[in-house]
Amino acid sequence: MKKIIFLLLVLLPFLSNAEDGSKLWLRAETGSNATVTTTPNRQTPTINIAKQELESQWKGARVQLNIVNNAELQRLGKDGYLITGNKLTGITIQASAEQGLLYGAYHLLRLQETGKDIGALNIAESPKYDLRILNHWENLGWAFESASVGRSFWRSEEMPQISSRLNVYARANASVGLNGAVLNNPNASPDMLTRESLQKVKVIADELRPYNVKVYLSVNFASPKELGGLPTADPLDKDVIEWWKGRAKEIYSLIPDFGGFLVKADSESLPGPHDYGRTHADGANVLAEALKPYNGVVMWRAFVYNPSEPGTYSEYGGSQDYSLTYKTSEKDRANQAYSEFMPLDGKFMDNVILQVKNGPIDFQPREPFSPLFGAMKETALMPELQIMQEYLGNRIHSVFLATQWKEFFESDTYCAGKGSTVAKTTDKTIYPHKVSAIAAVANIGNDVNWTGNHLSQANWYAFGRLAWNHELSADQIADEWLQMTFSQNPAFVNPAKEIMLDTWETTVSFSQPLGLHHIFAWRTHYGPEPWCDIPGVRPDWLPVNYHLANDIGVGYDRSVTGSNGVNQYFSPLREELNNIKTCPEKFLLWFHHVPWDFHMKSGRIFWDELCYTYQQGVDQMRDIQKRWDRLENFIDSERFLDTQYRLKIQSRDALWWRDACILYFQTFSQRPIPYELERPVYDLEELKQIKLLDINNILNGSRQL
Ligand code: GCU
Repeated sequence: MKKIIFLLLVLLPFLSNAEDGSKLWLRAETGSNATVTTTPNRQTPTINIAKQELESQWKGARVQLNIVNNAELQRLGKDGYLITGNKLTGITIQASAEQGLLYGAYHLLRLQETGKDIGALNIAESPKYDLRILNHWENLGWAFESASVGRSFWRSEEMPQISSRLNVYARANASVGLNGAVLNNPNASPDMLTRESLQKVKVIADELRPYNVKVYLSVNFASPKELGGLPTADPLDKDVIEWWKGRAKEIYSLIPDFGGFLVKADSESLPGPHDYGRTHADGANVLAEALKPYNGVVMWRAFVYNPSEPGTYSEYGGSQDYSLTYKTSEKDRANQAYSEFMPLDGKFMDNVILQVKNGPIDFQPREPFSPLFGAMKETALMPELQIMQEYLGNRIHSVFLATQWKEFFESDTYCAGKGSTVAKTTDKTIYPHKVSAIAAVANIGNDVNWTGNHLSQANWYAFGRLAWNHELSADQIADEWLQMTFSQNPAFVNPAKEIMLDTWETTVSFSQPLGLHHIFAWRTHYGPEPWCDIPGVRPDWLPVNYHLANDIGVGYDRSVTGSNGVNQYFSPLREELNNIKTCPEKFLLWFHHVPWDFHMKSGRIFWDELCYTYQQGVDQMRDIQKRWDRLENFIDSERFLDTQYRLKIQSRDALWWRDACILYFQTFSQRPIPYELERPVYDLEELKQIKLLDINNILNGSRQL
């Protein structure tokens, strides 16, 4: 008997079919045995996938997959498709290319899995962006560079053996229309281009190809020198030009549909064309020239600010004096990309796309859009978003990012009059460049559930859906994802969706509200550290140089009398931002040094408003926690409890942020915390001592929460 009990205990986890989140949103019941025919009767790996997905999951009458080359389908492009027909009598999916059929198949299954009426369909779809790309911040080897995404899931060390997860990954991407992956971190090692490494890249490319996902690589600008042994990496040197051409030839001999390069140059101490007195355009064009014969693209990052002279500072502090070497006259980091790149507009080859982070600084909880959007007319610009929550509580906090991205897409640049949204400046509506693209830094790691936090899977899903169609609402995306991932029961979906839609604004309120930015903890970027000021560290990495609190007020003055950052925006936005009275309050401290007694729209003085906003964030977070608790009976206990636990930590962290920031800023404001608000539990000195020693291990997945 004892033996049987022991055996049962050992086997229980396997028998119980415990929910682990590994299936993502791909949970349609299989075994349908649907009839699916193709015309012409072509058998390509991609068409076969479309067919198999439908055969096993479609629960309606037969589906016909047709490759058709008429004008309408040509207009929808290779990724586009038409779906007509009716669930009861039969459906036809038409496309001009095989990938269109694949995307059409996933569309049909999504309708089914979200309980939509499938009668008299007449759907014509094509993506808003041509290239829809995930950026994986992994290093060669290939561990993650950042703690935020846990451990590598490419598992390159096991190659040529392929992880079965690669197939699920490819399928997940295709199901939301993503068609590219940059495999490695932009802080790239030159060794990424060795033959040995390229062979591993080929293994991945071969796996992803049938799902229409192309691979791209981040490359180090000094590779001709570091890897090729040339005396220079000067982009105008003829041996360097030949070296890049040779590398491109080798890559395409292994991977004929290789997508291209992502480049971070002259940024955060990385080499670049400035090292040789050349411009970013010179640098980008030498690579673009090498890739051109194969239709490859160069995604050149605009994430540049004060490239420092190597060795003039120590990353973790130290005795050395660090004096910035400004390449532009701009002292404000937020202004630098614009002043660096605007003079180069029109100088890039047409297979170069400038990859620009959504905001002018660095994926802060909330940033105004980068002023480069709309301003650069002759150069294709691609937004870079961050799915990985580097500054938003990492894998621990639950923050649904579609709401953040919608604010970005819909921001009006005014570049061609009212209504010139960021989305329209980048999707060819306003500037019809040869290619349009969008990228986001992935949050995918080696966790069984891919993203650590179950709810964070929604951000991978949401990025794909918005890259396909930025006009979808955050509400619709959350709705789809919840139905496909958890349950179709509206008693669960509706409240869960409301929670998701509230998480971003709540997290901004309890961490960096009213335009505050860059006041997070040193190194981990997790938790508050507005007092952070480490001798010897470059000033533009330190919180004190972003909030600039003093006895007058707090905030970065980017008005015309300050760093003049407002001037990089078009009129009338420029004037609106410049005037402290008309600047949207959500960006107030981004653009103004706001006096503690400034009158806010609520009727409160600014100091009180700041305290109230922090408190509101805490209250909302606690409310979210309670709302989630009510959903216990609707879903599996594994995902329910894990999420509940994370929300509890997020609530605790909200209080930590509130207390730390209010008490710290109070040392400047010298005003009381409004009496009706909660008193901080700890004093400032105690809060400064909080060191989450394990945070790095938790974030990189080597220790459980
Ligand atoms: C941030 C981040 C770095 C990253 C960089 C980038 O600074 O902390 O890890 O390399 O962004 O986007 O290149």
